Order: sequence, then structure tokens, then C-alpha cells
Amino acid sequence: NLAAGMEMLHVAALIHDDVVDGSDTRRGQRSLKAQWDNRTAVLGGDYIMARAIVMMGSHNACSVIINAVESICQMASGELRNFGMRHREPTAEQCIDLARGKTGSLFAVTCSTPVLLIDERYRDVMERYGMSLGVAFQIIDDVLDLCQQETALGKPSCGDIIEGKHTLPLLYLRDGLNQAERARLLAMEGTEIDEDDREWVASSMEATGARERAEVIARQYAAEARAALEELPPSPYREAMASLADFVLARGA
Ligand code: IPE
Ligand code: MG
Ligand code: MG
Repeated sequence: NLAAGMEMLHVAALIHDDVVDGSDTRRGQRSLKAQWDNRTAVLGGDYIMARAIVMMGSHNACSVIINAVESICQMASGELRNFGMRHREPTAEQCIDLARGKTGSLFAVTCSTPVLLIDERYRDVMERYGMSLGVAFQIIDDVLDLCQQETALGKPSCGDIIEGKHTLPLLYLRDGLNQAERARLLAMEGTEIDEDDREWVASSMEATGARERAEVIARQYAAEARAALEELPPSPYREAMASLADFVLARGA
């Protein structure tokens, strides 16, 4: 119930995210809001989120519920801050902070909540592991947003440019472009991106070194995740969690 509940929280957040981002594709299928409409997606997301909390409540542990609901607060405030900063130039630290809020918090809670039912001593380690893993995952996800086509991504390509989102790879891309190229990038906000633009973005990510710069940071966070695990006793589960840190990086390779 706990694992399914956490996955349902994640799915509910994505159903709502596709309304927020106006996105018609998710995991290679029509998003809920495209399949039906915004009303259905908002209420359906609410329903799944509430069901998740009820399922997690079956453990009769208030700390489990508080932990899970706190991650929803952090995720929502992370996304709200992104909108609040819309037309401001963020720093790399601010981009990473947004990734911590919107993704790291969910990963941290997913990893640390079971510990509350087993052995509280490992809570801090599992939170640090989850947070670092989540940031590594999000940076690679943001790289792929700019470098992969919709068919591989399973969601619209270059969504972050169209939506005017702040991500670390986009910051590095802007850094490496000249003035005219930056104007071209900026003009894509709020438009439909055509195949020429998409290819230009993907090749500029390579030519400016933006992709490599972002991947270096993602590798650092994956290494931090792996390092946190050293504080756990050896077990096949620890090995499985260590390979997840490699997996989030391999997604981008
Ligand atoms: C939203 O982030 C993630 C959540 C807070 C659920 P994104 O908008 O970057 O997610 P994608 O790119 O649509 O998957
Ligand atoms: Mg989105
Ligand atoms: Mg995204």
C-alpha cells in the first residue's frame, strides 16, 4: 500500500502537471486532460491523490501521512516559485533549488517513508539519498526535454522552452548562445516548435557544451546519492538502490 500510494501521488501530480503545462502527451499516450478535459484531469488527479493518502493511512502511522503530504507541499511550492521567477534570469543554484523542490522532495519522501515503519535511524540517510537521486533525475529529464524527440520522450519535446520554465540545462544553453541565438530561443516561448527549431536546440545543446555541463552536475548528485548509501549496512537492497543512481544517468546516455 505504501509503495502504491507513493506512485499514485506521483501520477496524480503528473495528471495535474499536464493541465498546468497544457500538455497533450504523457508516457507516450494522450494525457488525461487531452483524452477528456481539464475538469476531469483536475478532479481525477484530486481523486487519485486522496485515494493514495487513504491507502497510506492503512499503516495507522501519522508520521507516514505527514511525510507524504509534506512532499506535495514542497512540490507545489517548487512549481509556484518557477512561475514567480518567469521573466527573471535565475542562477544555477536557483535552478537546482527548483529541482530539489519539485522532484527531490518526492524522491526523498518515497525513499524515507518506509523507514518510519521499520527503523527511524535510517531516515536521514534515506532522505539524503532520495533528494540527491531526485535532483540527478530531474537534471537529466530537463536535458532530455531539449535533446530528445517526442517519440522517445513520451511527452512533448522542448516543453520547458515553450512554457518559459527555468531548468539548469536551459540556463547553460542560454549561456553558450550569442545574442541573436538567444533571441531565437526566447521567441519560441508560447509557440509551436517546428522540426527545424527542435533540431537546432538539440544540436546547440551539444555545440555549446550545455549538455555536458548539465550532465556533470547530474553525475555529482548521483555520486552523492551513492555515497549516502554507504551509511547503510550492505544488502541486495542497497545494491539495487545504488544501481538506480546509475540508471537515472544512463537514461540520458
Ligand atoms: C513537473 O515537472 C513534475 C511534477 C511536479 C509532478 P515537469 O513539468 O518538468 O514534468 P514533465 O517534464 O512534464 O514530465
Ligand atoms: Mg510538465
Ligand atoms: Mg519537465
